Parts: sequence; C-alpha cells; structure tokens
Amino acid sequence: MRIDVFTLFPQWFGWFGDQRHVQNAVAGGLELGVVDMRATTPLRAGQVDDTPYGGGAGMVIRVDVVEAALRERYARDPLERDPDHRVVALAAGGRQFDDSLASELAATSELTLLCGRYEGFDERVNDSLATDVVSIGPYVLAGGELAAMVVCDAVIRKLPGALGHADSAVEESFSEALGGAPEYPHYTRPVEWRGRRVPEILLSGDHARIAAWRRAQSAERDRAHPPRD
Ligand code: ADE
Repeated sequence: MRIDVFTLFPQWFGWFGDQRHVQNAVAGGLELGVVDMRATTPLRAGQVDDTPYGGGAGMVIRVDVVEAALRERYARDPLERDPDHRVVALAAGGRQFDDSLASELAATSELTLLCGRYEGFDERVNDSLATDVVSIGPYVLAGGELAAMVVCDAVIRKLPGALGHADSAVEESFSEALGGAPEYPHYTRPVEWRGRRVPEILLSGDHARIAAWRRAQSAERDRAHPPRD
C-alpha cells in the first residue's frame, strides 16, 4: 500500500515517520510519502491560498495548487483516478472517521491524504479532486495534519505485520469480532494493587468462561457509551 500526505507543513511528519510501528509497516512494504504542496504551486512566490469569493475572514487553499501537486506526484490528470485510489480531504465538517472507514482505507492500494489549513480547501478540491471528505471529530484543528496522522495511524494498524501480535488488531475496540463494541478491560500484575484485585475469573484458567466474560464486559461498555450517530 502507498500513503501520500499532501501538506504545507511536511516537517510535521518527520516525527510520525520515525515511530516504531510506522517503521515496521514501512519495513513490511508500506510506502509513506509526504508531499509539500507549496513546492509545485503554479503561483508566484510560493503562494498557495487566496481570499474567499463573497468575502469573509481567512484564506482558502486554491484548487489549482492542489491539482498541480497531485499531477506532479501521480503523473496523470487528477480527475482520472484509479478506482482503487482514495483521495481523502481532511476537514472538520467531513464524514466522521471510524474503525470501519479505517478498514476500508486499509484495503486500498493507494491512499492520498490532503491536509487543509486556514479556512480549508476551495470546495472544488472536496467535490472534484477528493473521493472523501473526512473529519476526526466535531472540533476544529489548526489544520488537517494531526487529523492525517490519526487516519494514517489507524490505517497502518490494520496492515499485516504492523503490530507485534497479529491477533491484537482482530479483537480490539470497534472491531467486527466485538460487534463494533469497545474492547473489554485488560489486567496484568500485580494481582492486587491498593486493595483492588484483578477479577477472579481472569485467574481461573477457564478460557471459555473468560471469553464469555470479556464479551459481556465489551457489551456492557457499549451500553454505557454508545457511539453517537
Ligand atoms: N481540519 C480541521 N479540523 C479538523 C478535524 N476535526 N478533522 C479533520 N480535519 C480537520
């Protein structure tokens, strides 16, 4: 799989790419690229944004700037995409990111993440150059960079070989194996800490009962904190 992040702040991703689980994914075949949209701007003096038509505060990233960066990276007209290539624009008002979207994106061969800044992208980026507009939550960040890292991180965890233990991603929160519910609680040593004991069932060695208890705990958490639509 190849993931390319398009940003005006490429240096943000140096730290991300240095993390062990990301490096493991790269060693396992992931290609992670970072593209500086300012480097290919067709405008003078590195300009990438402009004032909004109709007036209002802030600046808007121009569609021709994003087009030029995509064209340079993929050597084709960005309106003619491979069906397996998802181009995700990060924006606070987009579709809420979740585990099933992470799985969907992890199944593609090519993923492009477009990081907005200022007031975001000209709407023609969202509706013509992107296949998806995605938000990591109902709050406004300074730009799409942290959101792109969140998406990357969740997608990378789904790739074979990214986790030390292959089962870790199967039965985790919101996975199909848990029916979309949050994960059950985990305990390790010491068996007692300041009067609080590990649930006895986990010490019983009875794997069938432990599995049933975990499913019940997961369902209980789901009832306590149902995902919002
Ligand atoms: N850009 C600014 N805020 C964002 C959010 N919540 N999700 C994705 N991209 C964003």
